Amino acid sequence: MIGGVDRVIAGGTVITGAGPEEADVLIAGERIAAVAAPGVLELPEAVERIDARDKWVLPGMVDVHVHLREPGYVHKEDISTCTQAAAAGGVTTVFGMPNLNPVTKTRPILDELFDLYDAKSVVDWNHNPVPSELDQVAPMAEAGVAAYKIYMVVDTGRDYPHPSGTGIHDHGHLLRMFEAIGPTGRPFMVHPHDQAIMDVIEQTHWDRGDRSPAAYAQTLATHNGLIWDSAIAVLLQMAEATGTKLHIVHMQTEGSIELVRRARERGVKVSCEVNHWALFLSRWADIERLGPYALSYWVPDHHRAAVWEALNDGTINMLSSDHAPHTRAEKEIGWEDCWACHTGTPGIQEQYPLLLDCAMDGMIPLARVAEVVAEEPAREFNLPTKGFIRPGYDADLVIFDPNDQTRHSADAVLSKCGWTCYDGRVTKGRIHRTLVRGRDVYVDRTVVGEPGWGRLARPAL
Ligand code: DOR
Ligand code: ZN
Repeated sequence: MIGGVDRVIAGGTVITGAGPEEADVLIAGERIAAVAAPGVLELPEAVERIDARDKWVLPGMVDVHVHLREPGYVHKEDISTCTQAAAAGGVTTVFGMPNLNPVTKTRPILDELFDLYDAKSVVDWNHNPVPSELDQVAPMAEAGVAAYKIYMVVDTGRDYPHPSGTGIHDHGHLLRMFEAIGPTGRPFMVHPHDQAIMDVIEQTHWDRGDRSPAAYAQTLATHNGLIWDSAIAVLLQMAEATGTKLHIVHMQTEGSIELVRRARERGVKVSCEVNHWALFLSRWADIERLGPYALSYWVPDHHRAAVWEALNDGTINMLSSDHAPHTRAEKEIGWEDCWACHTGTPGIQEQYPLLLDCAMDGMIPLARVAEVVAEEPAREFNLPTKGFIRPGYDADLVIFDPNDQTRHSADAVLSKCGWTCYDGRVTKGRIHRTLVRGRDVYVDRTVVGEPGWGRLARPAL
């Protein structure tokens, strides 16, 4: 008998990086107590039994790239609406991004933000501040941040999503940030972008008077991904020179994938993520139909194929949402002038079901799904109790019914923005229940988790 067990998820197929396995998952308080062959461990009558027969028991997603918008942009989203959408989408840990007002760049600003998460988050959380003020880097590590984040981009003609202080593309300043972060042991998460190339290409489209979504998409995708690949080449060299761990967001080209592969062979410490829009959206037909709603990025088909391959072969470590909610009004202006529109697209609620649908179509093994949504992000960001369905780990779990289906729609969206590019899409299977540290946060189409249940997911050093 294992002591302290109060819940058991019985008779399901447990899916981990080791593959699917029929097992009961025993929960004692907030932790997994045991994963055992069905029915072999005798349990007292008082233990609550959750019947998972014909269902899959998956790890809760660790989503390291989420724009929660609070403080500063709460007309788009806030911590409680975003983390309710997370709970419905099987996401049990979120990392927030610093393009807020105030920009998260000092310890006092970070402390206030941690208080907000503490009061409002339904799921576990962390936050990646900007490391531009070098003397603030160590104090923010002491507070418990999992990583730092910078954007190598400055917006032209709009003040969001990259408000002043979040975008730094000066290589000297970037190098100083790599050096300051190294001793903290945390990864440096970077949005790669070559602003100088972007400026030149943009000007060509503007001179033609073309500010359409199509022009915007083509500008960013110019020269087969030069804007991304050249930035990533520089970042990898800085990571190599300083020994600081680099985490690259928005993987979307063959060239970037090849650069990461080669850097790893040389021993450079680097992880990288793909985001929902690159896998499930941003085909040319999506750009034409959804225009500004689907942008930032158009991912040409040959690049999308390379991204899927790299996600399967391990070059790309993880899926993260890059959930980027904006209001409909902020998007609508993009039909006329996409450079005035706030770019990015929400997806925290839809990405995990979409990936599982692809797994059922044979595009990625279920074991790899468990790795890319949970095991790899937990490992790469040093979260010692997250990501794995193993004794001693937090009971962050998703119960998924593969025989049901999910009809994605704007009506079902819990994000404050109230829309989704996946409106009308039907995917196989349905998230039935989500648990964070042993407690239900989502059951049968209803968020039952309380704001404030979420806790800081602190990295180990
Ligand atoms: O398009 C984007 N939107 N790119 C980013 O880097 C940020 C994001 C946002 O916050 O909306
Ligand atoms: Zn982002």
